[in-house]
Amino acid sequence: MPVRIAPSVLAADLGRLREQIAAAAAGGADWIHVDVMDGRFVPNLSFGGPVIAALRRITDLPLDVHLMVTEPEHYLDEYADLGVRVFTFHPEATTHVQRQLARVRERGMLAGLALNPATPLAAISEVLPDLDLALIMSVNPGFGGQRYLPGATDKIRRLRAMLDSSRSAAALEVDGGVTPETIGEAFRAGADTFVAGTAVFGQADPAAAIRDLRSRCSDLRLA
Ligand code: DX5
Ligand code: ZN
Repeated sequence: MPVRIAPSVLAADLGRLREQIAAAAAGGADWIHVDVMDGRFVPNLSFGGPVIAALRRITDLPLDVHLMVTEPEHYLDEYADLGVRVFTFHPEATTHVQRQLARVRERGMLAGLALNPATPLAAISEVLPDLDLALIMSVNPGFGGQRYLPGATDKIRRLRAMLDSSRSAAALEVDGGVTPETIGEAFRAGADTFVAGTAVFGQADPAAAIRDLRSRCSDLRLA
């Protein structure tokens, strides 16, 4: 199974964005994770369209946008026009989840749903055919630098089984508290895509940090 590492810009130094993204690319980052927060769905504000536009100008890496906002549908066309690759939102944040997933695909983006720690897998079970990505939050969203909640690992395992039994090829992403110490258990449980903020941009050498995270995934299945 290929491993994707998606460094989160939330932990980057925005004053040196170009340099930080170049370091991530040099380390082999697969996607750039962009956390959009509205101060309502989560108790924090981050950034939106202008920063996404800046990222699009400075890198060709796919932009993996995670919307922690109420009514994410308001941003769908704007982000598609900006060239966003993955559009992931939370099922609690909108009323007609299936309609929005279909619209995301119609606009040429990959459609993702993110599950908070207290949100059951049942929240996505009826829309698996509409999903290109399912994201397990391993912290309560809103802030970087939190600890990985141990309960996430079993949830990843159950989601892996659910995707496999329905023959879904959706990516299984994990987000929050991913570090060299925690990435292995998430990988062994069946995650294939790993968001890391502090563990990449909080380090002196982000490129080396990405290589280290990836190395913790190889061969661990046999361990
Ligand atoms: C949390 C965000 C995460 C955050 C992860 O609400 O969704 O993507 O950037 O940060 P770390 O890796 O520091 O936990
Ligand atoms: Zn995120």
